[in-house]
Amino acid sequence: MKSSSLPIILLLFIFGSLVANCGNPSTEKQHETAHSEETVPVDYMKLGAGIAGATRDALGKQLVQAISTLGTAKAIDFCNTRAIPLTDSTAMAHNAKVKRVSDKARNPDNQANEKEIAILQEWKEQQAKGDSITARLLEADGKMIGYYPIKTNGMCLQCHGMSGKDILPDVLAAIQKNYPNDKATGYVADQIRGMFVIEMDK
Ligand code: HEC
Repeated sequence: MKSSSLPIILLLFIFGSLVANCGNPSTEKQHETAHSEETVPVDYMKLGAGIAGATRDALGKQLVQAISTLGTAKAIDFCNTRAIPLTDSTAMAHNAKVKRVSDKARNPDNQANEKEIAILQEWKEQQAKGDSITARLLEADGKMIGYYPIKTNGMCLQCHGMSGKDILPDVLAAIQKNYPNDKATGYVADQIRGMFVIEMDK
């Protein structure tokens, strides 16, 4: 492949997924049931990690695209209206429920519950000790639930960093307008910002 065609392909891909995610959530179910499920034990930790990774990649691509075409302040509106439908469509494709939560949520719908806060706390302690942070898998109500950490990098700080330093005034205004109870500022790079919670049928 000629290297010059790569950006065009990437753009097509991004716009393709934008269009796909702007429409009404599809009611068509994808019939991908694994018939070998009974004989081969499912690695739920890995299955959940794959779903979390795919969601992270898709969100990341949309975010970078929105920032570069609209600017950071307008990308706030974009996050507000699009972030949730995207996770839903990914969830449907994998017959799983995807949540993105935080102990310091911007959108109150993304507030972590007690169990999730306890895991976030353990991860912060692991990180403080210099240990590697490990994903968790729990079983509850006949479902397998995977918990996967979300960390900040430098790019996140323009919307989640220090106001007055990393977050520009027009961006801060857009955040405050859409999220009057925002708790998700004051981060530095490489901090635990939240988690993906992937709920899977057994
Ligand atoms: C353009 C601004 C912007 C950037 C850049 C950005 N975010 Fe966010 N983030 C938001 C907005 C707006 C929401 C609320 C979305 C919603 O309503 O669900 C949000 C929500 C989240 C949530 C869900 C929990 C919550 O607080 O509602 C997590 C986790 C998160 N962001 C992590 C990140 C990480 C990690 C990065 C960097 C890789 C990042 N964000 C970059 C604007 C941004």
